[in-house]
Amino acid sequence: MLAELSPALIAEVKLAAQLLASKQRICILTGAGISAESGIPTFRDKQTGLWENYGVEDLATPEAFTRDPKLVWSWYQWRRQMVADKAPNPAHHALAQWQYHAQTSDQQVTLITQNVDDLHEQAGSAVTHLHGHLWRNRCGQCEIPYQDQSRASYDNQGTMSFDKTLLNCPHCDGYIRPDIVWFGEALPVQAWQTAEEAAANCEVFISIGTSSLVYPAAGLAQLAKQNCAQVIEVNPDPTPNTIVDITLAEKAGVILPLLIEEITTL
Ligand code: APR
Repeated sequence: MLAELSPALIAEVKLAAQLLASKQRICILTGAGISAESGIPTFRDKQTGLWENYGVEDLATPEAFTRDPKLVWSWYQWRRQMVADKAPNPAHHALAQWQYHAQTSDQQVTLITQNVDDLHEQAGSAVTHLHGHLWRNRCGQCEIPYQDQSRASYDNQGTMSFDKTLLNCPHCDGYIRPDIVWFGEALPVQAWQTAEEAAANCEVFISIGTSSLVYPAAGLAQLAKQNCAQVIEVNPDPTPNTIVDITLAEKAGVILPLLIEEITTL
């Protein structure tokens, strides 16, 4: 498969593999781009269908939920419907394989994601979620987790549909919302602490499939760099990340299986 890439990119993959194989502490940050090849649109992609006239920033905020909870809940139920049948792609599997391999070597491979899907877990990875979980709910008022998760049902043809009716909290009657970090909200304390520690202590930081636009997650690469880590980026498109040492400008599903094969056989 290496032969399908340009000679320059092959050289960069080999360079990255040598660097990674020689270091012990690795921190990986993934974003929506890693799930793109599983068929889940990224955040900066234009929305489609019913939602094409809405921007993500107009729906994924506490203000939007206060203004129109039905609209925001319907959007998340639609997103759940879109994600429900999606499976991990070769990029997710390669990272899980690397973490598995690392258990028997000296490497510590910490995986942090901004994604709210569970494709890393489905592939077998241990992962810290910075922006919450698509498949969990909690009360928007008293914050208590809501157990009846996603309200999916199947019609006669076996098609899954997600009920768009608003739900009320059994404790305080507030509206139930997805357990996701919206724009303007704080990140979960424990998850952020794990991410900061891994970034500050790593020798190599790998940014995969993220536009590096949304903070504080986008600041993790800078934190790693300040602590003398090398930074690798996997993204077919340029990003504003100016501190990258090795750029692997291809899809994650192409690069990661090759990179991890190289690392684990070196
Ligand atoms: N492989 C690697 N990268 C890809 C691929 C692919 N196959 N396809 C697209 N990309 C890249 C795009 O070039 C883009 O830089 O993935 C990136 C996706 O960027 P965003 O949509 O901005 O996603 P992300 O960086 O994860 O967004 C961060 O913003 O809306 C909020 O909370 C939400 O977690 C999200 C955060």
